[in-house]
Amino acid sequence: MFKEEVIKLLEKETRLKKEELENLIEIPPNQEMGDYSFPCFILSKREKKSPNDVAIKIRDNIKSKLPKELEKIEVKGPYINFFVNKKLLAQKIIDINPNFGKTNIGKKKTICIDFSAPNIGKPMHIGHIRSTILGDSLMRIYDFLNYKPIGINYLGDIGLHIGKLIVAWELWLDKEALKKEPVQELLRLYVKFCAEEKTFVNSREDASQKPLGVWDEGADAEEEFSNNSWTLKAKEKLRLLELGDKKAIKIWQDIQKASGKGFDKVYDMLNVKFTETTGQSNFSIKGKDIVMNALKNNLAKRDETGGVYTEFNLPGQKELQKKFILRSNQTASYITQDLGAAVDRNKTYKFDKMVYIVDFRQEGHFSALFTILKQLGYDFADKLIHLPFGTVKFGNEIIASRTGNIILLEDVLNKTIEKAKQEIFKRKTKGDATKVGVGAIKYIILKNEPIKDVQFSWETALSFEGNTCPYLQYSYARASSIIKKAKNKNFDKSDWNVESKLQRPLVKEETALVKKISDFPEIVVNAGNKMNPALIANYSFELAQIFNEFYHNCPVLSDENKSEEAFRLRLVDSFRTCLKNSLHLLGIEVMDEM
Ligand code: ARG
Repeated sequence: MFKEEVIKLLEKETRLKKEELENLIEIPPNQEMGDYSFPCFILSKREKKSPNDVAIKIRDNIKSKLPKELEKIEVKGPYINFFVNKKLLAQKIIDINPNFGKTNIGKKKTICIDFSAPNIGKPMHIGHIRSTILGDSLMRIYDFLNYKPIGINYLGDIGLHIGKLIVAWELWLDKEALKKEPVQELLRLYVKFCAEEKTFVNSREDASQKPLGVWDEGADAEEEFSNNSWTLKAKEKLRLLELGDKKAIKIWQDIQKASGKGFDKVYDMLNVKFTETTGQSNFSIKGKDIVMNALKNNLAKRDETGGVYTEFNLPGQKELQKKFILRSNQTASYITQDLGAAVDRNKTYKFDKMVYIVDFRQEGHFSALFTILKQLGYDFADKLIHLPFGTVKFGNEIIASRTGNIILLEDVLNKTIEKAKQEIFKRKTKGDATKVGVGAIKYIILKNEPIKDVQFSWETALSFEGNTCPYLQYSYARASSIIKKAKNKNFDKSDWNVESKLQRPLVKEETALVKKISDFPEIVVNAGNKMNPALIANYSFELAQIFNEFYHNCPVLSDENKSEEAFRLRLVDSFRTCLKNSLHLLGIEVMDEM
């Protein structure tokens, strides 16, 4: 929080830019060395002095100009160390309000986030959860920073999988089962088709080569050229559907209805909302228009089979890439629709940035999409970003699903909530099993950098110790119980002043907690800029650890020392506000009792 003051001082003295200083300033490894430190190596050449001499010169120049936020400065070798005024900082921290951490760096700029995007007709599986949870967290972070986030759920409502399902529906549909358990019935049909076709349920690729639960690519690239008789039947159905065949359309609509119910159940459980839910199929025509225009302007070519393609160089690659943007049977493919959707969203939302949160296996798809848009003259292509993420792996624990191949999201959620219930019962604690279970899943996903694989296990997710959600929720409840006990102590007088009331310096646990809380606003900004909720998750863990350290060493409620009690109570309350806000950004709820 007082880093700003350090930057202001150094800006004048070093003639370095604010952003540069922002990055250069370090946090010293221990409190004795100060709160912020500036390494002078970078100025040594310009000043023709040793880094130590530069440090001394700067110190001597600013020593007498220190603002009240900074207590003293010291030179240690090449470093200038800054010590903040702890009581002043403590005052700021005990005065925070429920909006703590919110800033206006977003200035209402629009950011579109394309996330979740499951495929209709197939059940949502564990691969989809990561996009859903990451997207929801980024929506919350951007909202907190006063951007205008637009969450788009781009349903895979068209594509070869739909052709397959229609074929299966006509052959094997059990109407009774559809009524009772629509999602299961769709899954059964799909699995049966795949068995006949001898392909894998959730991925075109050899599922045995991949970890379970891999994301199924929306693109049907390989099957495009397959002559398998079942695949051909599915393709034919898809073509009929696109031509407006009434029977096919009716089945397709029924599939959408049944499937949508299953998705909504999961979104409700996760408490995830979208600004807009739309299907890929809505962009076939728009996409084809774009392709036809490209053809007219010689930006794309037609090959001998009738398919339309473009050629381009991907960044950093010499070889020319060839990518089909329209199938030879003139139907729109995954990329055709994505071209249409991107152009449409740019028109509707005039976004400053659009992020696609999609599995890393689709990196090729997105770099092609962005390059082609650019090639076709759409300058907004520079505002598009693919945020890739890794796989969620289940150690030895595999949910036995009816297919033996898919880990169903709904099953994972239910099983986690069930286990949370058992854990709560075992510990004889209160607590809402749904909040604990859902939080545990979100947290184990979010504490990992998006691109890293997640090793999922119920033991780690639900443990009350270590870097887990129950540990954080429990720390919150612990703080709440102190506040509850102090209910009639009337500690929240806003004119309470640390400098005059607390007649001693802060002890080290208090200082550590004050400082950690004060870091929060900057952490949120970084998480937004880097699109990385893991920064907030791991911050929350460190914050809770520091609080627990404080809790064990610093008694809060006391009948002897009233002013100390008042200070500590307010500090505990500020900790609660801070942890609550940081968990809110991860989509995790807190409880006062646990
Ligand atoms: N439905 C696709 C899949 O499951 C993901 C869609 C991602 N978003 C997009 N605009 N392509 O593979």
